[in-house]
Amino acid sequence: MNKFLIIGIFIGVLIVHHSNIFAANGERIFKELGCNACHNLKEDTFAPALKSISKAYKNKKESLVKYLKGEAKAIVDPDREDFMKPYINQTKNLKNKDLEKLVDYLLSS
Ligand code: HEC
Repeated sequence: MNKFLIIGIFIGVLIVHHSNIFAANGERIFKELGCNACHNLKEDTFAPALKSISKAYKNKKESLVKYLKGEAKAIVDPDREDFMKPYINQTKNLKNKDLEKLVDYLLSS
């Protein structure tokens, strides 16, 4: 095989491996999981707005990760915690990397 071809393939693999082209971003994950059906960006509705969530979890990123893994109690509106259960079942199955992106998105809103 031509050695330039081998080097080319090697570089191609490196680029794909280190780029974010194929990585999901937080907002996309949020929409794909249907979170936006209840959660608004700025206005509290039936569910708290992302603005309220990011305020409640300011400087508490680890707690939000735990909550979305089903390992911590709700702090925003615990009385309505049950509505979130089916969605926690989804978020806790996300890859750590994707969960991290989702959390970053929630906290940046
Ligand atoms: C069926 C409507 C609905 C959907 C869809 C929904 N949520 Fe919620 N969510 C709620 C309600 C109601 C609350 C308020 C209760 C609470 O705070 O636990 C809430 C609260 C939250 C909170 C605050 C938790 C806390 O500490 O109180 C986070 C974070 C959150 N949702 C993230 C998500 C994410 C991420 C998704 C998508 C995977 C999602 N939600 C989908 C209704 C929904």
